[in-house]
This record gives sequence, C-alpha cells and structure tokens, in this order.
Amino acid sequence: MKGVILAGGLGTRLHPLTKITNKHLLPIYDRPMIYYPLDALVKAGITDILLVTGGNNAGDFLRLLGNGKEFGLRHLNYTYQEGEGGIAEALSLAEYFAEGEPVAVILGDNIIEKNIKNAVQSFKKQGEGAKILLKEVEDPWRFGVAELEGDKVVNIVEKPTKPKSNLIVTGIYMYDTTVFDYIKKLKPSERGELEITDVNNLFIERGNMTYEILDGWWTDAGTFESLYRANSLAAAQADRR
Ligand code: DAU
Repeated sequence: MKGVILAGGLGTRLHPLTKITNKHLLPIYDRPMIYYPLDALVKAGITDILLVTGGNNAGDFLRLLGNGKEFGLRHLNYTYQEGEGGIAEALSLAEYFAEGEPVAVILGDNIIEKNIKNAVQSFKKQGEGAKILLKEVEDPWRFGVAELEGDKVVNIVEKPTKPKSNLIVTGIYMYDTTVFDYIKKLKPSERGELEITDVNNLFIERGNMTYEILDGWWTDAGTFESLYRANSLAAAQADRR
C-alpha cells in the first residue's frame, strides 16, 4: 500500500501565521506540523509516500524533508497542487503515483497519538473499497459527521449545522484505486472545492465502506484553537518520550 499526505491549500483560517509560510510548516511543539502525518504513515509500515503541497513555499518542504532520511526513508515523492481546489482534487494528483495500488491518505494537519498500523492491516485484508477512521469530538460541526446504522456508516455530512452525532471522520482514509474514478465524477461544492466527503459517500452508496474508531487522541490543527490544542497534546506526549 502506498501513502499520500495532503498538504496543499492556503491555510487562510490561520492568517497572519500562514501569510508567509505554509500551514504544515508551522511548529507543533518541537517539530514542524508535517512531521506528524509523515511519522504516522511510516509507523504504519508505509514507506512509498507522496507529499502533495502547494502555495508559495512548496520548495521549503524539499529543504526540510529531502528524501525522508530522518524518518528512515530512502526516497520521498512530491507533487504540486495549483490553487485550493479541495482535498479530493489534491488526492487526484496522486493517481499517477498510485499505479493501481491502494492508498492510505492522511491530511497534513492531522495529528494522532497512537499507531494506525492495525487499521492499515485490516484494510489490506479487506482488499477493496474504502475505510475511514472515526473519532468522537466535542465540536462535530467543524468536520465531516458520520451517521451510523448498526456496524455501517450510512452517510457523512460535511460541516452540518445540526450534527446527528459526535462521531466525525478524521483525515485518515484508505482507498482502492477506484477512488480516482470517483473523484473524476465530482462537482465542486458550495465552497468551490472537490470534497472528500462526496468521495466517501460514493463508496458508502456502493456498499464498499468500512470504518474503525481511532485509538488515542486525535486533532486537526487548521484553526487557532485546534493548533493550540495540537501543541499542548504533542507537548504532553513529548514529555513522555
Ligand atoms: O480534519 C478532518 C476534516 O478534514 C474532515 O472531518 C472533513 O470531512 C474534511 O473536509 C476536512 O475538513 P477541513 O475543512 O478541516 O479541511 P481543510 O480545508 O482545513 O483541509 C485539511 C487539509 O487538507 C489541509 O491541511 C491540507 C489538505 N488540503 C486541503 C485543501 C482545501 C489540500 O491538500 N488541498 C486543498 O485544496
């Protein structure tokens, strides 16, 4: 299985912090944000990784990460997203890299406490379709919210004003190669983006989606509040290293 980190977008919610640099280069305690999703994939045993980035500071990722030696990698792949067309658009840029293999995708601003190795293994056994990782949070309206029936996800609503549950879709997704065909069918949402939630709902409609609840804490880091939270969670964990 190949890995894809999505670190494009302009991070406008974090202005002025992101006026002169990319959100994913901002510090999370003692490391740049991008280290965390990269570490998560490597710890799950994924070593063939593509980093999708964009904006004015794309070259800084190369200077920072090089070929991923610090993470025990021999090579890292990079590609560039023009503009901010959405998470699904950023993922579409990975089609040539995936070469028909399944992909584990993580958003560049998602930070986790534990290891996703077991979820990756179970998706390998699943063999086709998609798997998402869910987590209970206090502010579900900021995310894609999952609706469950029995042991199945039956619908995901992106940023609902009245969330039906506290269970949200984290930015960790696993897909077989049909994901790239699904993305080609998408139309931009009201916010002008190709939405990953629309992709996930297509897998749900086809009865090809499984889920797991993510173990340990999880946070995004795309708002001032969540960036602060990410820093304090990472600091507490670093103290225990
Ligand atoms: O963090 C989990 C949430 O991420 C999910 O619950 C939502 O369903 C999903 O839509 C997403 O929500 P956000 O609104 O928080 O996504 P945001 O626009 O902040 O983008 C998250 C990351 O995705 C960002 O750090 C980099 C990547 N991205 C985003 C966009 C819009 C790209 O690579 N390219 C893009 O064009």
